[in-house]
Amino acid sequence: MTSAVVFFVLAVSVGTLALDNGLMRTPPMGWLAWERFRCDIDCDHDPKNCISEKLFMDMADRLAEDGWRELGYEYVNIDDCWSSMERDANGRLQPDPKRFPSGIPHLAQYVHDRGLKLGIYGDLGTHTCGGYPGTTLDKVATDAQTFADWGIDMLKLDGCYSNATEQEQGYPLMSKALNATGRPIGYSCSWPAYQGGLPPKVNYTLLGEICNLWRNYGDIQDSWSSVLSIADWFFDNQDILQPAAGPGRWNDPDMLIIGDFGLSVDQSRSQMALWAIMAAPLFMSNDLRSLDSRSRAVLQNKGVIAINQDPLGVQGRRLIKEQSGVEVFWRPLSSDASALVFFSRREDMPFRYQTSLKKLNYTAGVYQIYDIYQEKALSPIKDVSDFVVSINPSGVVMWYVYPAKKMHRDAMLYGPSLHRHGNRFAPPTHL
Ligand SMILES: *[C@@H]1O[C@H](CO)[C@@H](O)[C@H](O)[C@H]1NC(C)=O
Ligand SMILES: *[C@@H]1O[C@H](CO)[C@@H](O)[C@H](O)[C@H]1NC(C)=O
Ligand SMILES: *[C@@H]1O[C@H](CO)[C@@H](O)[C@H](O)[C@H]1NC(C)=O
Ligand SMILES: *[C@@H]1O[C@H](CO)[C@@H](O)[C@H](O)[C@H]1NC(C)=O
Repeated sequence: MTSAVVFFVLAVSVGTLALDNGLMRTPPMGWLAWERFRCDIDCDHDPKNCISEKLFMDMADRLAEDGWRELGYEYVNIDDCWSSMERDANGRLQPDPKRFPSGIPHLAQYVHDRGLKLGIYGDLGTHTCGGYPGTTLDKVATDAQTFADWGIDMLKLDGCYSNATEQEQGYPLMSKALNATGRPIGYSCSWPAYQGGLPPKVNYTLLGEICNLWRNYGDIQDSWSSVLSIADWFFDNQDILQPAAGPGRWNDPDMLIIGDFGLSVDQSRSQMALWAIMAAPLFMSNDLRSLDSRSRAVLQNKGVIAINQDPLGVQGRRLIKEQSGVEVFWRPLSSDASALVFFSRREDMPFRYQTSLKKLNYTAGVYQIYDIYQEKALSPIKDVSDFVVSINPSGVVMWYVYPAKKMHRDAMLYGPSLHRHGNRFAPPTHL
């Protein structure tokens, strides 16, 4: 049996229920404050970077004006440290009055006016990780209603300062409470990350029924070693994690740090490629006001975005770990297409890796290849023919692969353009 066949069966057999709020049928995309801006609340001395309404308005402007929204980056998400240290007289959360003087409904309106969505952060527990008021079990319904009243579109519910029993009650309770507001609100659960990310403590069937996405593992930091440790954990545990994902329910390996300080261009391409293979949410945490052009090109690459957003919604896998330090990843896509990533962990020089599609378990036939980062079509390849890819140190070669005849028709149907919903990546029509 081929990989493709194995996968299709897998995808169908685990195609269980997703949280029924109609949201996030493909992995959500947008911007999230935490990794880059953390809990910087010093607006007196650092007004440009502190957690304030100005920061989120700036990012909304950039998403709307610099071509991000059209590519699917639609969420503008607040993380920790937005709130006042006290709830209001009615026991409702309230933003810090100095840093969010216009209030959250005004910010939501600002974001919505630009065709974007606003996400907010809460924490199931006595306090947030940053020490702000948490959402204890008795406050779940109140906070869900507050967020809905404010026009919030997504909630990240962290899990600091609660124990396993409270989390087991609280995360499903919040899911019900959000539903009861009548407002569709995407729901990101940090629950599994607090329980080690693996069964038996974590029940991924349940998570898929109550959350749209979930953080399985620790926070990303601004370094290549952090990206690598996260990718390793997700692919080492792919037999458990891969079947948990599907339309409306996604594993979340955390934010994209492309455009920050820790990654080279090759490493940026690698993070983007591996996140696309994982069908991961694509939340950038960077400063969109001063992004360099090479990071922008990686984050706005239409091919890699289309692979991430493929409507089939099947998470990919690592196929091979070679002694040489090369790893091969694969993700099945709609229209009998697939994505391949050749990744090198080497630290010496570009490595010439030789293989064939047959060795990667492709069915017999001729395949068209589109190189995602070179942005060009390669010569068609027969499954049995050996080929060589040259992979930079800590870099990737990423291919969009499709059977020679079939996609030709799709290419004519869809043309080279890429749309946010329901469409797929179609290679240039000159193929
Ligand atoms: C609430 O759940 C019901 C049943 O699962 C679903 O039909 C409805 O769309 C949900 N509403 C919201 C706002 O999530
Ligand atoms: C969890 O915390 C609650 C208090 O909120 C306490 O009653 C309960 O015993 C704790 N459970 C465990 C397993 O520690
Ligand atoms: C996991 O959750 C599902 C759905 O709620 C449930 O049917 C199943 O029994 C749970 N599995 C375990 C091992 O608890
Ligand atoms: C190809 O399939 C064979 C037989 O199922 C399996 O042993 C092998 O690991 C697969 N190779 C890859 C690269 O997936």
